[in-house]
Amino acid sequence: MSACEYRPGLEGIPAKESGIGFVDGKQGILEYRGIRIEELAAKSSFVETTFLLIWGYLPTFEELEAFATEIQYHRRLKYRIRDMMKCFPETGHPMDALQSCAAALGLFYSRRALDDPAYIRAAVVRLLAKIPTMVAAFQMMRQGNDPIRPRDDLDYSSNFLYMLNEQIPDPLAAQIFDICLMLHAEHTINASTFSAMVTASTLTDPYAVIASAVGTLAGPLHGGANEEVLLMLKEIGSVDRVEAYVDERMQQKQKQKFMGFGHRVYKVKDPRAVVLQQLAEQLFDKFGGDEYYDIALKLEAVMADRLGGKGIYPNVDFYSGLVYRKLGIPADLFTPVFAIARVAGWLAHWKEQLNANRIFRPTQIYTGDHEITYIPLEKRTTTPEKRAVPGDYERYRSTIG
Ligand code: COA
Repeated sequence: MSACEYRPGLEGIPAKESGIGFVDGKQGILEYRGIRIEELAAKSSFVETTFLLIWGYLPTFEELEAFATEIQYHRRLKYRIRDMMKCFPETGHPMDALQSCAAALGLFYSRRALDDPAYIRAAVVRLLAKIPTMVAAFQMMRQGNDPIRPRDDLDYSSNFLYMLNEQIPDPLAAQIFDICLMLHAEHTINASTFSAMVTASTLTDPYAVIASAVGTLAGPLHGGANEEVLLMLKEIGSVDRVEAYVDERMQQKQKQKFMGFGHRVYKVKDPRAVVLQQLAEQLFDKFGGDEYYDIALKLEAVMADRLGGKGIYPNVDFYSGLVYRKLGIPADLFTPVFAIARVAGWLAHWKEQLNANRIFRPTQIYTGDHEITYIPLEKRTTTPEKRAVPGDYERYRSTIG
């Protein structure tokens, strides 16, 4: 590949060297620091996995205890952050609320010492501790309630579910939620992680880094897809509608993508989707089934038939919504929950970026004009002869009537 070859979306272009996560999209393998995700899901916890991602090794018992205790200690929010949140419209999306709150932390913790390991550790702990509290607090406040105070006797995942529902969760529900967090914690250089790295490369504060990543995760082509999957299952409505729905949608002139399917890297079923499906089944066995699950199973089969040849299979977002729904998490909190998990990966990449930093400054292929003469305002016509983007001028005019 020549240095100047243009690849839209930077597809396949290495942007950094990294020892954090590894994906083999052909074989469906995901590893964190060399450990397969299935093994971590079966044996680890979110807090331990986060330590592994950020510091690169599995902690000793004492190290894990100290890390978990520090996170526990920093879970509460400053009252001014809660006051700020009271001004947020209850109709606003929780991802926008989270992005604002993450950025606001930079106001309260403004000291910046990026070469001080103690500062790095404090920022890591603070973000991991406070982000779940922010998500749960916004959920309470938009319903007109006071936020629920975090409980020190509860572990990371149990405490989040408690702050969300004011009820100590069933141990199986908390364990499954913890596994969901592990599965979503890291996924190499996707859009939001790249966003975090670009922001980090300017040596700004870690709160700005995480805020920019949260904003990027929010889009429907990235983390926002899990929310859309449930809407799609609802729209399908019943198992016998699945085939017709898929075929109708594929025949539409303006092709719409099926949410929860396809991936830039995986050309087989996403390994996280395999584990999430098992988790969904465990939940259904204990707490009763979900009408959407049968629709999802049929949709997966029909999609494999219609689009499997193109390597389009369920991704992480396909079954996660069904798990979260069973855990009583509202659909518009699915992406904030993704953010609670992914903050681990973003922070690991932030720390790695600081170890070998070079500000991101890609180049572009300029397609515009040169040496254009400036036309005085009174001599300009309403239909310029040259237009940068065909149709753009007409579109602009249509907005101003
Ligand atoms: N449904 C239907 N067709 C899909 C598809 C989907 N979910 N995802 C990809 N395709 C098709 C495209 O239409 C395109 O077909 P074409 O070659 O005939 O034009 C081909 O597969 C390649 O798609 P493209 O969008 O170029 O792939 P990508 O690598 O850029 O996209 C995603 C990856 C994730 C953005 C894409 O699969 C997608 O939008 N999925 C739905 C959103 C989603 O679930 N996102 C969460 C990702 S974890």
